[in-house]
Amino acid sequence: MDGPRRPLPTEWNQVVDFFNDNLRFDQSWKIDQEYPLAIHSKNLNNIRVLSINNELMSGAVMKMHIMKCSMGLFKVAAIGSVVTAPEHRNKGYSHEVLKDCLQAAEEQVCDFALLWSNLYDFYRKVGFELAGSEVSLVIDKEMNAENPEVKILETNKIAPEALLKLYNFHTTGTIRTVEDIKAYLKIPNTRFYTAWDKGNQLLAYAVEGKGADLNGYIHEWGGMVSHLVPLFSHIRKAQGRTITVIAPNNSSNLIRSMKPYCSTVNHGFLGMIKLLNYDNFFQKAIRYSRNLGVDGFIVHKDGDTFLIGCKDKIYQTTDEKDIVRIIFGPMNEVDYKNFDQETQTVLKQLFPIPFWAWGWDSV
Ligand SMILES: CC(C)(COP(=O)(O)OP(=O)(O)OC[C@H]1O[C@@H](n2cnc3c(N)ncnc32)[C@H](O)[C@@H]1OP(=O)(O)O)[C@@H](O)C(=O)NCCC(=O)NCCS
Repeated sequence: MDGPRRPLPTEWNQVVDFFNDNLRFDQSWKIDQEYPLAIHSKNLNNIRVLSINNELMSGAVMKMHIMKCSMGLFKVAAIGSVVTAPEHRNKGYSHEVLKDCLQAAEEQVCDFALLWSNLYDFYRKVGFELAGSEVSLVIDKEMNAENPEVKILETNKIAPEALLKLYNFHTTGTIRTVEDIKAYLKIPNTRFYTAWDKGNQLLAYAVEGKGADLNGYIHEWGGMVSHLVPLFSHIRKAQGRTITVIAPNNSSNLIRSMKPYCSTVNHGFLGMIKLLNYDNFFQKAIRYSRNLGVDGFIVHKDGDTFLIGCKDKIYQTTDEKDIVRIIFGPMNEVDYKNFDQETQTVLKQLFPIPFWAWGWDSV
């Protein structure tokens, strides 16, 4: 067995074929078109594979993102395309690959790793936990919210600079370049919708579908709520089916405006998170608490023990999940009952942080 290791540049075509044959064998496009930044030869150093007799049999892909939210900037390892060839499964290969990914992400000073999966127990075994929040607005009612002042176009011929300008108004998400957006605009099996004013200024955008994933889901959007609502109304009508908008929990204005059109508003998890460089990450949390004028907040890892609290009231846990849930949420009232009143007030003031990842950046 050879690996886990980063692939050799000479193996590139073999690597793309491996992920494609095991994950997208039934599609008309290739997997690198679906993940143009992650499955790209420039990102080779962040891919891990295992091979036997020169044949690839297990692998995973990471994309390092710089992500922002009100707590500051994070370096995040987004992990995906985790796969073992069917004949080699249940021999521990994926876990070996994942552990190697996490080690590389730690060495690259990532604050935490993030992934999207429904194989919760599989990823829990390497330390991931469900955390963060995401709201799904299921638009199943008729919407007649079009606005004659707003012109809607369905095309991917959108200036990436204009998209980026609107995207940058988001308070949370990955820091992107124009080149990143250009690449994302070419992802197959995607529908793009834009709203324009009479002077041909881009007012809002929405993206539905992403390759084999997110069919029927608007996973990227931007612009003011007053322009997004007519845009979503158009999409609902044009597609003639239930459409779900996914949004960060803190988009309260949008959520409130869309509720009349949704029988269901689901509150789910953002994804699965595993902390990596504890000291770095906790220093950011402490700095953030000071910026908000909170004195004496402490979060620290000492050996296997996590310490969290305020002033002289410090709580201990050896379960990373407890800390991840406090910082990223979700926490319910019963969870807070484990803390004294003053600590509860501080934790609720600081956390959960309004952190979110947009659909194009999932791997
Ligand atoms: C999921 C997958 C990657 C696991 O690969 P693998 O090499 O067989 O995994 P491992 O042998 O390292 O499994 C390690 C552990 O996870 C468990 N496990 C494996 N597949 C699992 C699954 N689908 N759900 C829950 N646990 C699973 C194993 O039983 C094993 O547990 P143990 O350590 O207690 O014995 C593989 O089944 C696969 O390629 N599936 C198709 C693609 C896929 O779904 N990828 C995940 C995308 S998010």
